[in-house]
Amino acid sequence: MTQANPDPNEGRTPQDQRGDSVVDRYAVIGNPIEHSLSPEIHRQFAAATGEAVTYSKILGGSFVEDVDEFFAAGGSGMNVTLPFKLDAFAWGEKRAAAAVQAGAANTLYLDEGIRCCTNTDGAGLLRDMTVNLGWTVRDRRILLVGAGGAVRGVLGPLLAANPAELVVANRTRARADELAELFGIRAAVLEDPGDGWDIVINGTSAGVDGEGSLLAPAVVRDARCYDMFYRRDGQTPFAAWAAAHDAHSTADGLGMLVEQAAESFSIWRGVRPVTTDVLKALRAV
Ligand code: ATR
Repeated sequence: MTQANPDPNEGRTPQDQRGDSVVDRYAVIGNPIEHSLSPEIHRQFAAATGEAVTYSKILGGSFVEDVDEFFAAGGSGMNVTLPFKLDAFAWGEKRAAAAVQAGAANTLYLDEGIRCCTNTDGAGLLRDMTVNLGWTVRDRRILLVGAGGAVRGVLGPLLAANPAELVVANRTRARADELAELFGIRAAVLEDPGDGWDIVINGTSAGVDGEGSLLAPAVVRDARCYDMFYRRDGQTPFAAWAAAHDAHSTADGLGMLVEQAAESFSIWRGVRPVTTDVLKALRAV
């Protein structure tokens, strides 16, 4: 296990006193992990809420060993990112409904020694769309593009928000069919998913590769388009492509990242941080 950034609690027990306060330790584990924004986000949450916590990055190698080592050393909670979200789910003994629906976990903690896991990605996406962006999900037609872990992670919370229709479209039809069956929704092919969508969400890794034209332009016309990937300037390939093809409006996933972090923070600490300033600060860099 490699600490990718210095942890001020290194070598201390979790119950070490700093003045009058106990400092609890959290971390995000992934591979690669160097560019994770989670420590910065959680530090800002801690400063804003006055919670006495530290948050570091761990470059994961052997997931279970790394996680067990972190908790055995007194760690209070972990976030989990690629490629370990399925391992995180397997690690959990007590799995929240959000993790079961996603088949994956991004938030870990112990409850009286029991390994608990949940998944805050879907809640983060919903909150970013509805609260930060002011989009309505209820009674709207939503197209979700992709059928990997990112998409599965958000299907449950999206459905719970009662859209008029939720359709999953994927390059490999069989994967879309599998998800559609699991969640009782309709699958479509990428080449012809239909049009007239209120919201189109990109959950494919194609956005990362810089390919903007996954879809026919008619699919995004007048739709609110959300990319689950992010760039600090908001200009992901999908968001830029949708904007150039008459989308109603576009957003990248930086808000989702901040909101899923806020959700984890409130599960761990019982306090929900205000996210507006944190999101603004991340954009400003
Ligand atoms: P993740 O867990 O991050 O979602 P994944 O399981 O590898 O990663 O899924 C990646 C998603 O991006 C899939 O929906 C994939 O489509 P396939 O199921 O057909 O592979 C999609 N994807 C990746 N590259 C793509 C491309 N160039 N065009 C269209 N879809 C692409």
